Amino acid sequence: MFGGATSIRRSSQSRARPTVDVAEHAHKRRLLKTCFTEKSVRAASGFIIKHVDRWNEILAQMAEENHNSSNNLSEGEKGWSPPINFSESVDSLVFDIMGDLSFGRSFDIKEPGSGGDNPLKVIPHTIASYMRFYYPLCRAPLLPLLLWLKPRGLDRVFGMLTPPAVRQYNAFVYDNITRRIQLHREQQKEKPDLQQRQDMFHFLCEARDPDTDLPAYTDTDLRAESSLLIVAGSDTTSISLSGLFFYLTGDPAHLRKLTDEIRTTFPDGSADDIVHGPKLLGCQYLAACIDEGMRLTPTGPSELPHEVLPGGIVIEGEYYPAGTIVSTCPWADSRNEAVHEGRDACAFRPERWIVDPAGTGVTAESVARLRSNFHPFATGPGSCLGKNLAMMEIMIIVARTLHRLDVRRAPGSTLGGEGPGLGWGAENERQMQLEDAYVALRQGPEVQFQRRVV
Ligand code: HEM
Repeated sequence: MFGGATSIRRSSQSRARPTVDVAEHAHKRRLLKTCFTEKSVRAASGFIIKHVDRWNEILAQMAEENHNSSNNLSEGEKGWSPPINFSESVDSLVFDIMGDLSFGRSFDIKEPGSGGDNPLKVIPHTIASYMRFYYPLCRAPLLPLLLWLKPRGLDRVFGMLTPPAVRQYNAFVYDNITRRIQLHREQQKEKPDLQQRQDMFHFLCEARDPDTDLPAYTDTDLRAESSLLIVAGSDTTSISLSGLFFYLTGDPAHLRKLTDEIRTTFPDGSADDIVHGPKLLGCQYLAACIDEGMRLTPTGPSELPHEVLPGGIVIEGEYYPAGTIVSTCPWADSRNEAVHEGRDACAFRPERWIVDPAGTGVTAESVARLRSNFHPFATGPGSCLGKNLAMMEIMIIVARTLHRLDVRRAPGSTLGGEGPGLGWGAENERQMQLEDAYVALRQGPEVQFQRRVV
């Protein structure tokens, strides 16, 4: 849609990194790219699997405890866990993964127990409240004034308003990164031959500047980059998974088809064979469901602002001078009926991503048209560096979970959906409701799990 990738830059409201200078950003991106190779993605998969397995076990235990502790369950409820707010549960899983990958220490948010046992449990909630508070400020016409006031006392005011949970989170991240930097340095000096923990932090430490061949990051940079990776990789991944499970549990036929694909591709009863590799990547229906879920659940539902650079830009035949903020809105873009040839753009229909002219009538041309209009990871010089990692993570989470567990929408639950009476644009109860706060805030779906029956 935009002509000339170098004529625009993302404005200071961008999600994943604070750099707005084009050359500085390009340099930082080149360095960070060295940490997202096939080798590092493969190495990360081991850590991800460990967390997914533990999460699956917690869900299965919830079902068993529910079964054992309650005598008056109806026939239809027997064997199932109590209703679980999927968004909250998957947030805890993804945060734990990102802590482990980014500095070698899980937040342990997914572990059973109350917030009293672990004050970090409230962090996903607190971040959501923060976004709800700050987002309107970032969109306000007064933004330049706020930016001017920041170093002139406003930062101190915001600092005083910081909730205790966020301070604890910051301290936890700071202490663990410090510990990890020390450990890395000691091991390099004393045991250079020792195989180090191959998480993302390791690859950041090992990264070298391609221009100078010197270490890419100072200790201060390491702190900044690993904190940034937690932010960039947590909400995005868990929002995508919430959307996918909302649409799957709202449509048992699609859920059954996907579960069958996973269980027949990995037939021998154990989910342990599900690893990053060609067999998993070959699950065509799984890939289609993930694409379809992401299409209907953009992680940032409204426009990511881009600032036109000196010289201006022509977009769709119209000239925009330097300084103009331009963008497109992913929520509306992915529901564009023109792109979908009137095939109900708001419906969850993974088949639209699979070429099958004789069966569903979907042609190679229509899939190509969808793909050219589908950019959940953005495109161009600011596109997502973690795309391959995120796709691997989502595939492993979905495949291992559906291999081991049956899942269904809690009977009668409408959490996360929209519905009659909610007003214009929110009447379709089969659509997941997203609240725009730069990232998509959301609730639900409310689901139940049990160990697989067949
Ligand atoms: C489904 C999951 C994900 C989605 C949909 C997603 C989407 C995006 C999008 C749209 C951007 C551009 C943001 C902007 O212009 O402000 C972005 C940037 C970025 N993402 Fe992701 N992301 C995901 C997961 C991850 C993960 C797991 C990581 C790393 C652990 C990651 C690392 C990054 C980084 C480092 C950038 C900044 C790139 C740059 O500034 O050049 N992302 N992501």
